[in-house]
Amino acid sequence: MTRILAIDQGTTSSRALLFDGGLRPIAVAQEEFPQLFPHPGWVEHDPEAIWSTTLSTARRALDGVRPGDVAALGITNQRETTLVWDRATGRPIHNAIVWQDRRTGPLCEDLAAEGWAETVAEATGLLLDPYFSATKLAWLLDTVEGARDAARAGRLLFGTVDSFLIWRLTEGRCHLTDATNAARTMLYDIRRGVWREDLCERLGIPLAMLPEVRDCAGDFGVTTLLGGTIPIRGVAGDQQAATIGQACFEPGMMKSTYGTGCFALLNTGPDFVRSTNRLLTTIAYRLDGRTTFALEGSIFVAGAVVQWLRDGLRLIDRAETSQTLAEAADPEQDVVLVPAFTGLGAPYWDAEARGAIFGLTRATGPAELARAALESVAFQTHDLWAAMRRDWPGAARTVLRVDGGMTASDWTMQRLADLLGAPVDRPVVRETTALGAAWLAGHAAGVVPGPEGFARDWSLDRRFEPTMDEAQRRHRLALWDDAVRRVLSR
Ligand code: G3P
Repeated sequence: MTRILAIDQGTTSSRALLFDGGLRPIAVAQEEFPQLFPHPGWVEHDPEAIWSTTLSTARRALDGVRPGDVAALGITNQRETTLVWDRATGRPIHNAIVWQDRRTGPLCEDLAAEGWAETVAEATGLLLDPYFSATKLAWLLDTVEGARDAARAGRLLFGTVDSFLIWRLTEGRCHLTDATNAARTMLYDIRRGVWREDLCERLGIPLAMLPEVRDCAGDFGVTTLLGGTIPIRGVAGDQQAATIGQACFEPGMMKSTYGTGCFALLNTGPDFVRSTNRLLTTIAYRLDGRTTFALEGSIFVAGAVVQWLRDGLRLIDRAETSQTLAEAADPEQDVVLVPAFTGLGAPYWDAEARGAIFGLTRATGPAELARAALESVAFQTHDLWAAMRRDWPGAARTVLRVDGGMTASDWTMQRLADLLGAPVDRPVVRETTALGAAWLAGHAAGVVPGPEGFARDWSLDRRFEPTMDEAQRRHRLALWDDAVRRVLSR
């Protein structure tokens, strides 16, 4: 029997899922690992924790499976997180600097003052922001003693998490990444498919320390660390893998994944669409040398707002209770919560904005707060959706496909459809990130259907149709716009 293993190395946990030949999940293992906050605004991971949890979850998912039954391994990962390791020993020179880390804000400001923002946008599709790997890598080379010299001498290698895992899994034989992960480094020219020499030179990054970039489905070496010999055949950043797992293969298809934050990707086909609304342009996937582009919008707080209700306010004891409370909220109360706990992401990109609650009265209680929290996720998705429609007319026809933990809440998905004024589709298989990685690996190994067949197999759990009347929809969106305007720092 054919099995495909998917490793999903995320921000807070490492997961491994085993799929059968029909791409149904049959085993899953998950382990959390510590988040390190050495200074305010800094976020690090211990690379050995990334590695050990990846290895042990992969081994657990494979428990009882004969190695010869595993046709291929796919890797998907938290993107942008930056590692540098010694080529000879495989030992990282520092903790991984996580995508959320803001330490390189001053370097980004210097680059902006030198006029690099336009080059960055035109070549990489990104905004000049600490979110991406480039300035994190420069910081490591500047800060770790001897790192610049060692890098110049060819002794150090850079990688995002996928690259680090491939290096470890292949025991130092392969220094590779895929086009989607390369697209998040702010060093990769996503139109030409090459590392950008001028940006590397400005940041003092030797080209030789960068991994070779391959298509998402292809040869990434073999591992013998999981029992037997397993070929690594698929790699994609987690949001891109979810786009594939949702079978968003056609231009105009869009998915939105609700984890701690939310990431929405709109497939724009072979078109590099330059956003005029502060969205990112990125690679959705690259197959057989052909690049499919996407517009991407990121929200920092989605599921995290429910965690805040539970752990911060102690308003609820289980996440699911938020929906029961929201259903009971007084429809006459216009309470709006802007969860700008760590600033606001797309399309505002305001790191200094902070959260606020508006419209409180003596009658406001836990139900209205819970509704405001869940609705804030729908409002933010609406902002991304509206920005995408302004950037690219093809978005107007889109039905949004959703996945991730929060999509279990029917109330939130209905409110999302209501505020978008458009249908929202929830698939049967909500493990879309791992599914995307498994499909890529299976595709390269020739054991799963091609894109059309896979898209045909995608099945709907439930479509949420908008039911809110237009006047009410406009009223609520106006309340949100007003609330956001009041929290922006500039
Ligand atoms: O860009 C960051 C993103 O890839 C992280 O995703 O699911 O690990 O929070 P996640």
